[in-house]
Amino acid sequence: MFIGTEQLTHTYMPGTPFATEALHNISFGFRRGEFALIIGPSGSGKSTLIQHLNGLLRPTSGRVLFEGKSVGSDKHELLRLRRRIGLVFQMPEEQFFSETVFDEIAFAPRNQGLQEEEVEKRVMEALEKTGLQASELKNRHPFQLSAGQKRLVAIAAVLSLKPEVLILDEPTAALDTTCRKNLFNLLTGLNQKEGLTVVISTHHLDEAAALANRVLVLQQGKLVMSGLAADVFGKREELYELGLALPPVTEIMHGLADKGLPVKTAVYTLQEARREIRALKRRYKS
Ligand SMILES: Nc1ncnc2c1ncn2[C@@H]1O[C@H](COP(=O)(O)OP(=O)(O)OP(=O)(O)O)[C@@H](O)[C@H]1O
Ligand SMILES: [Mg+2]
Repeated sequence: MFIGTEQLTHTYMPGTPFATEALHNISFGFRRGEFALIIGPSGSGKSTLIQHLNGLLRPTSGRVLFEGKSVGSDKHELLRLRRRIGLVFQMPEEQFFSETVFDEIAFAPRNQGLQEEEVEKRVMEALEKTGLQASELKNRHPFQLSAGQKRLVAIAAVLSLKPEVLILDEPTAALDTTCRKNLFNLLTGLNQKEGLTVVISTHHLDEAAALANRVLVLQQGKLVMSGLAADVFGKREELYELGLALPPVTEIMHGLADKGLPVKTAVYTLQEARREIRALKRRYKS
């Protein structure tokens, strides 16, 4: 296991009348290089789980594991951990605080004590990776950007630390279809070309299902399903009962299979569906 948890339980405000158990006895492990999804209805504990993975929240009981070792509470160790495991919050642009895009992305490497020359290199590289035009944007105020650009700046601000794991809490929330596609393409590239382990929580199964190797499903703080994407997405009825719909294209393939047609149901993109249906047509013609 590269990153995961063992019997992780988290209670907010323990010992008070407001105590809320947000996570209960969660155990899972992701391998290095995987693209993992955390899905579940609103309030199921996705953000709480994500914030444990880079040590921002501490378990009430149980452990968070990174490279087989328990994540402890030592301040220096946690700082080192957060350089290796980058976290992009839900609606990260709400937390921008710098005057320029450059300074926003430079904040973490500067904080790490890197020389200004190295900081500049990191900022430029991070901007380039996200596909943002450095010359056009680096001196702009972050609030003057479009929603999609702001989200990319927030991702660049984490990439500037050169993390090995990139965790994003609902990275496509409040973005339109084009921005969502663009962002998922970026994450796929970071995963496949740069070798980053990517973990995201999302409501947009449409685009995300096709990218994931591994999936966790949370409901009311409990891990109700977990495993390889093909296995989890194969359990359509169970997902449906949890209020989680499969991508429409997958539903159509299931509908065809239910009618007795020999089609693959683990189909998440229109392209794949087209291929399957063409193969089916050929089969019935001959
Ligand atoms: N800071 C907090 N203090 C107290 N309770 C909290 C806090 N943050 C979250 N909770 C509670 O913990 C539970 C899980 O919340 P969490 O934000 O992790 O869910 P989520 O799956 O990320 O939801 P969403 O999809 O709406 O973002 C909820 O019952 C929520 O009310
Ligand atoms: Mg959340």
